[in-house]
Amino acid sequence: MSYLEDIFSLEGKTAVVSGGAGAIGTVMSDALLQAGANVVVWSRTRNSLDKFVQSYSDKPELLERLLTTEVDTSDEQSVDSALDKAASHFSMPEILINGVGGNRGKKSFVDIEVEEFKDILNLNLIAGLVVPTKIFAKRWIDEAIKGSIINLTSMTSYNPLSGVWGYNAAKSATLNLTMGAANEFAEHGIRVNAIAPGFFLGKQNKALLIDEKTGEYTERGKAVINRTPFKRFGEVSELAGATVFLASKEASGFMTGVSIPIDGGYLIHNI
Ligand SMILES: NC(=O)c1ccc[n+]([C@@H]2O[C@H](COP(=O)([O-])OP(=O)(O)OC[C@H]3O[C@@H](n4cnc5c(N)ncnc54)[C@H](O)[C@@H]3O)[C@@H](O)[C@H]2O)c1
Repeated sequence: MSYLEDIFSLEGKTAVVSGGAGAIGTVMSDALLQAGANVVVWSRTRNSLDKFVQSYSDKPELLERLLTTEVDTSDEQSVDSALDKAASHFSMPEILINGVGGNRGKKSFVDIEVEEFKDILNLNLIAGLVVPTKIFAKRWIDEAIKGSIINLTSMTSYNPLSGVWGYNAAKSATLNLTMGAANEFAEHGIRVNAIAPGFFLGKQNKALLIDEKTGEYTERGKAVINRTPFKRFGEVSELAGATVFLASKEASGFMTGVSIPIDGGYLIHNI
């Protein structure tokens, strides 16, 4: 094996990517596949999974290492049985990417709708982190597997974004739980890290950043670009390298409890 393969190859490992058919999940799933892992993509909808599989129709060598499963990651039983399925199809997963999450609209605090707020917490925290982490970590501890978890934090994990209250609450908690879980699982050799994407145009934020009618940046879109030292939005492909890096024990085996911003410098903006 070459030096790069020694450090970054994920051959023989199985990875689960929850929300793996989403905008960011597809890129992370693809990165793991390209690095040699068996990849199990979880989503709530068969439709999105089928679309993802179709995108590999001309790459049969990658399709062999891809399994897709309909799962509701807010449901412990659903996650438990999907984990069994992944383990019996390939091998016990050693990598978990918690890629379920998202944001909805923007409003002032006094207009918060409590049910919607709870839904966003449920999506990002319960389905997006707590349930899969609990189920995987329990299995890994029982079976002495030194697994790696990668969560999805956000710019708002560090500094609140205006008007997205449920998302702010969920993503600051995601960073907190990444550090706390890393601490608790360290004695078992289980690592918990996160990737904090800056602004990547996707379903969840497009309407906030681009005016649908004119195609121009909204005031918020302009504010983001002005605050980003690289003066552009990110390309989702720019998340692939950190995904493989954090998944690989050989590359990042002494790292835990860390959230890596991939943000064109958004967090280091100054005046
Ligand atoms: N897009 C961005 O710019 C950005 C920036 C920072 C952080 N993030 C975070 O990255 C993660 C992925 O974001 P995205 O833009 O790819 O979102 P997305 O909506 O494109 O993908 C999320 C996927 O999760 C699936 N899903 C939702 N609930 C589920 C459940 N209960 N069980 C199983 N699957 C479920 C959805 O069907 C969807 O396919 C989120 O945590 C998001 O907050 C995104």
